[in-house]
Amino acid sequence: MVRREDFIPEVIWTRGSDGFFLVPVRRQDDPDRWTALCRSDEGIATQVDDGEDRYGGKGVMPTSSSSAPWVMARMLDLLDLRDGMAVLEVGTGTGYNAALLAERTPAGAVTSIEIDPAIAEQARTALDQVGLPVTVVVGDGEAGVPDRAPFDRIIVTASVARVPYAWVEQTRPGGRIVLPFTSEFGGALLTLTVADGAGCGRFDREAGFMPLRGQRPDPPAWRHGDPDIRTTDRELRAPFDDPAAGFAVNTRMPGCALGRLVEGGAAPTLLLSHAPSGSWASLRSEPDRHEIAQHGPRRLWDELEAAYDWWDGLGRPGCDRFGLTVTPEGQTFWCDQPDQTIPTPCRADADGEAS
Ligand SMILES: C[S@@+](CC[C@H](N)C(=O)[O-])C[C@H]1O[C@@H](n2cnc3c(N)ncnc32)[C@H](O)[C@@H]1O
Repeated sequence: MVRREDFIPEVIWTRGSDGFFLVPVRRQDDPDRWTALCRSDEGIATQVDDGEDRYGGKGVMPTSSSSAPWVMARMLDLLDLRDGMAVLEVGTGTGYNAALLAERTPAGAVTSIEIDPAIAEQARTALDQVGLPVTVVVGDGEAGVPDRAPFDRIIVTASVARVPYAWVEQTRPGGRIVLPFTSEFGGALLTLTVADGAGCGRFDREAGFMPLRGQRPDPPAWRHGDPDIRTTDRELRAPFDDPAAGFAVNTRMPGCALGRLVEGGAAPTLLLSHAPSGSWASLRSEPDRHEIAQHGPRRLWDELEAAYDWWDGLGRPGCDRFGLTVTPEGQTFWCDQPDQTIPTPCRADADGEAS
């Protein structure tokens, strides 16, 4: 059985004492800490800022990691990989998960694709050292690996906001795709089963991963232009604070960026923006009144309130009552059953609400 520490590089990254920067832990300097982190149930950042030193030896954004073992175990359960199957992993990282896949399908074939050539090379070396046969390919996994398709299973270990149809095309009918779905409101694991040229399936438990390189969120566009202002007694913070509410709201208004700003009010100002339409909204709270600002073609705060009320009216379902269907035309969220599709964007007056 393979050990995680056989795949973890000599230098890993943890949050520093300022709570912001990531700082290195070097195996040779602190072997006990390095080993304890490898044996923990936590994710371990193994690369920051795409491998560039932009902050004098510290890092800001984790860009490769060994995922938390409990999430890896759940994803492997959902994958239902059996011996003899062909499997594609998107996001090789350290190679540890690829090794677990290869152990589960010794008579099958494991292909793993990694976008960063240096990371792919380290994973190849580690996999060779433990003697497990994995074909590591360098490239953009959003295109899959057509040369080695079809696959019985695809597992994606970087988070996805838009599921590429190539993955559905490269999965055999009846096969499965397991991925961490993400939004700025929060994310959850998703299992799609492929049939009739579509991938369709339910969300599982909440989980967060670093995004695919090509799906990193757009820079938010807020507080430009001349917003409309209204005051209200309603201080709706739940979609920002409660993962179940946030997950549901995202199904009605995908692609939004969120922000929190401490401005000396009664609570941080909440910001919402949708870059493609140039719309933004904010909620600013004083002890006795709340002020909503909205700008752009979409009234994002009105949409947020309508989406929250819709979720509340459904009995506040968790993410496991939601699902996604992926076709050549795009992706559609649904609630309870694939034919109960969720219209977007959310407007208080929208027709055809999912029930
Ligand atoms: C969370 S790590 C993967 C963990 C890995 N499976 C393991 O066991 O260590 C995510 C990886 O996905 C890679 N990645 C990001 N975008 C990608 C893309 N479009 N195609 C392939 N790999 C990508 C990152 O470089 C990173 O190494």
